[in-house]
Amino acid sequence: MTWDARQLAQQTGRTFVITGANSGIGLETARDLVGRGAHVVLAVRDVAKGEAARAAIGGRGGSSVVELDLADLDSVATAAKTISAEHDSLHALVCNAGVMGGPYLLTAQGLERQMATNHLGHAALVTALWPLLHSTGGRVVTVSSIAARGGRLTAQTTRDELVEPGSSYDGKAVYASTKQANLLFAQELHRRAGKAGSPVSSIAVHPGVSDTNLFARQLSDGGRRLLAPLSRLVTKVALQSASAGAQPTLRALHHSTPSGAFVGPKGLNQMRGRPELLDVYASGKDPAVAARLWELTEDVLGAPLPV
Ligand SMILES: NC(=O)c1ccc[n+]([C@@H]2O[C@H](COP(=O)([O-])OP(=O)(O)OC[C@H]3O[C@@H](n4cnc5c(N)ncnc54)[C@H](OP(=O)(O)O)[C@@H]3O)[C@@H](O)[C@H]2O)c1
Repeated sequence: MTWDARQLAQQTGRTFVITGANSGIGLETARDLVGRGAHVVLAVRDVAKGEAARAAIGGRGGSSVVELDLADLDSVATAAKTISAEHDSLHALVCNAGVMGGPYLLTAQGLERQMATNHLGHAALVTALWPLLHSTGGRVVTVSSIAARGGRLTAQTTRDELVEPGSSYDGKAVYASTKQANLLFAQELHRRAGKAGSPVSSIAVHPGVSDTNLFARQLSDGGRRLLAPLSRLVTKVALQSASAGAQPTLRALHHSTPSGAFVGPKGLNQMRGRPELLDVYASGKDPAVAARLWELTEDVLGAPLPV
């Protein structure tokens, strides 16, 4: 059957956490869910932007804003504590926030910024919110990318290669590896949760190529701020909308999407179209690479992942 977001129907009484929900795909996902009566926690690094997004999406079920900087593991821990104190159920955690490219920067914990934000911060958040997810039988939806196809993580990747790639830094290649990490993590979480008999589902998605702030932000972060307005214009005309980009995430939230699935559009080399169930890319499929990433992630976080 062709997927249509109307299949999600009413979501009253259900709670969702969406990282990066003030912009782009996260904002459109939040808008849809709030419109269906859900309560959505907008987990954002800039509370003022989160409040503006909250005002913009309105909705019956309501929403709230929690400060979360995924590039700072202390902030992740504080945000998870706040969410756990304020909610007694969590139907889904959408690991959506992301950065693309920019210069070589290290976070407060000395970790490469893109890997810290896109993968490690999310892995820490999933771990901290696991008790709530487990007791609710919730879903973890992880937003990957077509770029994951070009990721360079292998079963031999070292800790330094993952978090401190150093002088020969290639921001584009690192972004691809962070999105490969998203896919590997989602798959490994699915396998481990299944083995442990956990009721939590893990699904990966990719949004095709969509009109969001990601591309203009990449230019600004890379010191080419003057090109950002032009980029915004081009993406608006050439790419599918952010709302279309949110459809794979919405499909992943539906109970008919099984744990372990990978959802994204198929049209134009997967750049646009309706959300379909896809084959996992070769780069995200190998359990040995996933196990290595899992082990390195636990080492960097200094704590076991949830299952
Ligand atoms: N757009 C596409 O075509 C495309 C394609 C493939 C994959 N994706 C993936 O889709 C996801 C959403 O991106 P988007 O396209 O919607 O871009 P976007 O409009 O730039 O949204 C990115 C969101 O991530 C947040 N964020 C960045 N760093 C953060 C941090 N350290 N802590 C917490 N939040 C942080 C941003 O917050 P601020 O607004 O405060 O910066 C923003 O809310 C990303 O994972 C991206 O890799 C997008």
